[in-house]
Amino acid sequence: MTDKLVLVTGASGEIGQALVQKLAQRGGYKIVTADFANLPDVIKPMSVEHVQGDLVYKIKTFYDYDFDVIFHLAASLSSKAEVATEDAHRINVEGTMQLLMMAAYRAEKYSKPIKFLFPSSIAVYGMGDVETKRRADSVKEDEYNSPHTMYGCNKLYCEKLGVYYSKFYGQKHLDVNPPTMLDFRSLRFPGLISAFTVPSGGTSDYGPEMLHAAAQNKAYACFVREDSKISFMAMPDAIKSLMMLMDAPRESLSSNVYNVAAFALTAAQFRDRAVNAFKNAKINFEPNPRRQGIVDSWPADVNDALARADWGWKPDYDVDAFFDDYFLPEIRKRYGK
Ligand code: SER
Repeated sequence: MTDKLVLVTGASGEIGQALVQKLAQRGGYKIVTADFANLPDVIKPMSVEHVQGDLVYKIKTFYDYDFDVIFHLAASLSSKAEVATEDAHRINVEGTMQLLMMAAYRAEKYSKPIKFLFPSSIAVYGMGDVETKRRADSVKEDEYNSPHTMYGCNKLYCEKLGVYYSKFYGQKHLDVNPPTMLDFRSLRFPGLISAFTVPSGGTSDYGPEMLHAAAQNKAYACFVREDSKISFMAMPDAIKSLMMLMDAPRESLSSNVYNVAAFALTAAQFRDRAVNAFKNAKINFEPNPRRQGIVDSWPADVNDALARADWGWKPDYDVDAFFDDYFLPEIRKRYGK
């Protein structure tokens, strides 16, 4: 069998690096990478070609490739997007739009479906106020879809664009023999935590930042209140969910967009876990009003019953397994603690 040709945009980011390694380890893929930045050394040998630069200006390059799967991970994350809104719109919306158009064009022209995997986010939810967030607790896909942030608006709109290009583009669903369309599949991720990389520009970053700081004996000022609660997930589970959704037969999918969850924690619970693992950890709370507002607008937890029912989703790491079997052993190796 010939290898499947895969494009991973945002390959130098946290999800990108972990995903490229997983695809290479599984085998059977030729991986083309794209990112604004250089590829990190750890994944360089796994990429057959790296397209470096702004996706919006590089898009023509991709019309010549016969991709089977596209993982479009490139994005400006929520805190950064909030201070550079125009840039965020260009990267998050125009970049996605260009890639969707390219994939839809090729799928139709060559009568070959292209799988398009898109990481969305808990940022698509907007809980209105803290009391509503507390009462709602765990939210379903179609609830509270009123994002408060630029990033959340971008993600929600791109989900809609993906559905449009995969179902209604050119209104060809009305034809007797509809042409092959692109196959759009999206996951709404919670805050992701890797033991190997640290995030930048996001708002759930206080979780991983606090843990990485504690492991290095560095003091950390957490930028949200102690009672701030959102859901989190270990990076290996995020990669597992992307692979599972890619592999799922189309007929089993009743939706284009799925929540995935693992565990929900308050910032104080994170602190307690960190202090428990690293006795000298120094963590205090200095809420930043802007970033606090973003976290307050995100749900305390998400309901992932649809993903469990349709394609058998189940995380490997609940909160105890996350700390005991993944994060702490890996981080101790990394920082020698
Ligand atoms: N983790 C992302 C952020 O904080 C949300 O998807 O921006």
